[in-house]
Amino acid sequence: MTRPDYAEKIPNNVGLAEDRRLQRALESWQPDFLSWWETMGPTLPTQDVYLRTAIDVRGEGWAQFGHVPMIDYRWGIFLADKNPDRKIAFGAHQGEPPWQKVPGEYRAELQRLIVIQGDTEPASVEQQRNLGATAPSLYDLRNLFQVNVEEGRHLWAMVYLLHAYFGRDGREEAEELLRRNSGSEDSPRILGAFNEETPDWLSFYMFTYFTDRDGKYQLGTLKESAFDPLSRTAEFMLKEEAHHMMVGTTGVDRVVERTAQVMVEQDTDDVAAYGAIPLDVIQKYLNFHYSVSLDLFGGETSTNVANYYTAGLKGRWLEERRKDDHRLTDDSIMVDALLEGTIGQVEVSALVGLNTDLRREYIADCAGGVKRWNRILADAGLAQRLYLPHVAFNRRVGAFASIEVSPSGEQLTVDEWRLRQGQWLPADTDKAFVRSLMQPVYQRGKIAAWVAPPRNGINGQPFDYDYVHLA
Ligand SMILES: [Fe+2]
Ligand SMILES: [Fe+2]
Repeated sequence: MTRPDYAEKIPNNVGLAEDRRLQRALESWQPDFLSWWETMGPTLPTQDVYLRTAIDVRGEGWAQFGHVPMIDYRWGIFLADKNPDRKIAFGAHQGEPPWQKVPGEYRAELQRLIVIQGDTEPASVEQQRNLGATAPSLYDLRNLFQVNVEEGRHLWAMVYLLHAYFGRDGREEAEELLRRNSGSEDSPRILGAFNEETPDWLSFYMFTYFTDRDGKYQLGTLKESAFDPLSRTAEFMLKEEAHHMMVGTTGVDRVVERTAQVMVEQDTDDVAAYGAIPLDVIQKYLNFHYSVSLDLFGGETSTNVANYYTAGLKGRWLEERRKDDHRLTDDSIMVDALLEGTIGQVEVSALVGLNTDLRREYIADCAGGVKRWNRILADAGLAQRLYLPHVAFNRRVGAFASIEVSPSGEQLTVDEWRLRQGQWLPADTDKAFVRSLMQPVYQRGKIAAWVAPPRNGINGQPFDYDYVHLA
């Protein structure tokens, strides 16, 4: 195997060419990454894809567009520019300069946070690997692959931190990130939602809307980290994450738009016969992806997270915009709780309730999508609406894990839940129907019948651009 040329093959702004030790570490990891990509990455054979590649964090450098074979994608390592005036914004070290090295006392916790974030990145590539076979258009196919290569880059970003700052333990963890696999019986991915299937494009749009958005909020907390390299890495990842969110938001827009169109044209809710996805099926997919994504924020209270905050390891969403003392030692928050078996709230210290704080930011953001989709329905002259289900619906983590609740928040017995869950979560018949619509459309400018075309192409190109050349 010839040695990779780092400046060329691995675009970076971390001085890789001057760091022999880091070079060697990445050199031994890179072939494993590539063989992981070949065995667990996208299965559809392609010649090349119109991709955005980051070769710099500044100006136009972060978004270079061109047709590239995916295996030759230049997975780079980029940290946002160092801010020489930056001060730690919160916790016990508030006001001190950020750390350029890992403090010994926080080593284990920081490594854990990086591994958990790192684990989600390749997981989603694995979950989405077969979707190319059923892409509704070349435009969508290109967006899928863009998301995939960027999740691959996000894995590189986390592996860089592990290799550069965590020595041998870090290198072992980097190997493990390739060894665990989504849905594997023996070595699954760490978090539940990343072991679920993404078997169809409605799931893909919902995943990129709801689950990638969880990633946005987690990265937002890491961006505040006192460990400056982690902060700067997360900041740049957030920039790429915005595209994933756009794919989800506009993807669901387009499904709802097409459904609304057929509902109006045919004057019926039962659009399945016309090859569109009925609104109630869209709602079920929304219910599922929203509820499993809520679980990703963990329990309502967490002393670990309180300790991470006080130590400066991760902050709150938009920490610097919060108008409080950024230490929270005297503050409190109401969090969801089960009170004698019923849904309620309790007051806890603000530090212990930080997961709830982050989840609420996320929920408010999710509501924005529902509002958009409902505007599409309203504009079509339809009275039906989509909604976010109750926070206790279908939860497997946190205060409501032990109870069953309808989307409107009504508590149910286990038997009632069993009987009725098919009304609220995708049933086998719904999944089979959605899958039956998933026929690939690979002709330029053509699109599947269950989804509307996008309003804009990528990088100013038209919808009928040759975004992907199949092999
Ligand atoms: Fe990511
Ligand atoms: Fe993402």
